[in-house]
Amino acid sequence: MSEHCADEGGPLAGRHIVLGLAGGVACYKAAELARELTRAGASVQVVMTEAACRFITPVTMQALSGRAVFTSQWDERAPDRMAHIGLTRGADAVVVAPASADFIAQLAQGRAAELLALLCLARPAQVPLVVAPAMNREMWAHPATQRNVAQIRADGAAVLGPAAGAQACGEVGEGRMLEPDELRDELVALFQPKLLAARRVLVTAGPTFEAIDPVRGITNRSSGKMGFAVARAAAEAGAAVTLVAGPVALATPRGVTRIDVDSAEQMLAAVLPLAPSHDVFVATAAVADWRPAARAEEKIKKDGSGATPTLAFVENPDILATVARLPEAERPWCVGFAAESHDVLRHARAKRLRKGVPLIVANHGPSTFGRDDNALVLVDAEGERELPHGAKITLARALVAEIAARLPRAAGRGP
Ligand code: C5P
Repeated sequence: MSEHCADEGGPLAGRHIVLGLAGGVACYKAAELARELTRAGASVQVVMTEAACRFITPVTMQALSGRAVFTSQWDERAPDRMAHIGLTRGADAVVVAPASADFIAQLAQGRAAELLALLCLARPAQVPLVVAPAMNREMWAHPATQRNVAQIRADGAAVLGPAAGAQACGEVGEGRMLEPDELRDELVALFQPKLLAARRVLVTAGPTFEAIDPVRGITNRSSGKMGFAVARAAAEAGAAVTLVAGPVALATPRGVTRIDVDSAEQMLAAVLPLAPSHDVFVATAAVADWRPAARAEEKIKKDGSGATPTLAFVENPDILATVARLPEAERPWCVGFAAESHDVLRHARAKRLRKGVPLIVANHGPSTFGRDDNALVLVDAEGERELPHGAKITLARALVAEIAARLPRAAGRGP
């Protein structure tokens, strides 16, 4: 199924990116960004302002991008000396990272004193302009900069960051350029088809933790990586995503609203009121089937006699089945996961019918826990479809495409 192997050469394979550097200490991060982008499969043409060349040399950027850098509109390599035209036709995006306060001011005013500003102005309207500001926190907070940023946003630029933190000048505040891997991920997201635009997607992820006493509990080996990848892929596809997560050590995907819970009961309490306002519910969480019947108020102590405690269990609510049984008007389109250790397909088919959901995603549970890769089989009323082995994020994007193709055409829910 070649359509699911689009990421084979990296998530930016076939993309041509013009990477512009304006002057600023963050130029050192642009070196790493050039590397990240080429590693992700993009071809990268670097363009630097005169000020940028004082912070990092074109030689470094050439070595990392594999292409000679442009710094002047009078460059003799450009056909007809029209570098601003030649460099932007055929580009998939122009990314200015770092963008200084002065450079953003030039963009806001439509000035074109140097090649980089000139090509931003001359780029075809369909080529996205992505701007990653980097400057001292006072410069960022200045009303003039804020005015200029609002103006370039209104003109269609995507402004990414800045982040807050320690600054090269020794001050602490907002103005740091986003990290190269964050910018790479944003670009990958930019190029994803917006298959879930105007849709709302609710995802559960991770294990649950069922307390025995204040310090002990029962959990499982789910890392949450598959669910977080689904949340990220849905957000990349333009959906408004709510992620209800059990205890995991994972960063929240950008743009995703996250609600943290511990137990299955808490997960159900978080999910139920949200379900009716969502179009899709993807239950990836490895919810504990049972919980201790009673939670001891104090830590259970050894009494020295050698006696061992006995735990009694009660069954947890089935979150997916509960949502799937909501009245039709309140019911999102439900997707379940089935992690099995054996007879994966047979169990998945039975589970689909038992839970009453249109789609079950089966995988081989024990071998995928904690890993970054997986292989999935989609089981629906029509039969089975395999999403071959790959990175979880690649599989999640393919799954999102499969969900989008199966969704009823009704307009999205919620505000
Ligand atoms: O029954 P089983 O745990 O194998 O079903 C797996 C699917 O059901 C997953 O989608 C899981 O998130 C969901 N589930 C649930 N609540 C439970 C148990 C499972 O939502 N208590």
